[in-house]
Amino acid sequence: MPVGVCGARLTGRDLKHKMRMRRLLILLTVALAAGAAVLILTYTNSLALDENNCLSCHGSKDLVKTTETGRKISLYVSEERVNTAATVY
Ligand code: HEC
Repeated sequence: MPVGVCGARLTGRDLKHKMRMRRLLILLTVALAAGAAVLILTYTNSLALDENNCLSCHGSKDLVKTTETGRKISLYVSEERVNTAATVY
């Protein structure tokens, strides 16, 4: 007959209950770890200054637009200037 933590003799039902509790504990740990991972990921994401990923296009010096009069305007935005700007895009 197996003996529980408190020294009491465990019946078959108690043993099954103990196993279920252990599985629940493992599940809880995994869920907690996953939750923490998601939190950390979203937290580091929110630290990025270029939140809307504008620089994926405007970070390129080749991005220009041509006006109706044929004038070329550079749409390049320096990442350094974005990171030090007062406005958050
Ligand atoms: C997928 C690439 C892409 C992304 C991402 C992008 N842009 Fe643009 N943006 C362009 C292109 C291309 C033009 C030029 C459109 C045109 O020729 O009129 C432009 C034009 C602009 C203009 C107008 C310039 C002008 O005077 O006509 C502004 C302002 C601008 N973008 C700001 C932003 C901001 C702020 C973000 C982030 C929220 C952003 N863009 C994200 C490609 C992008």
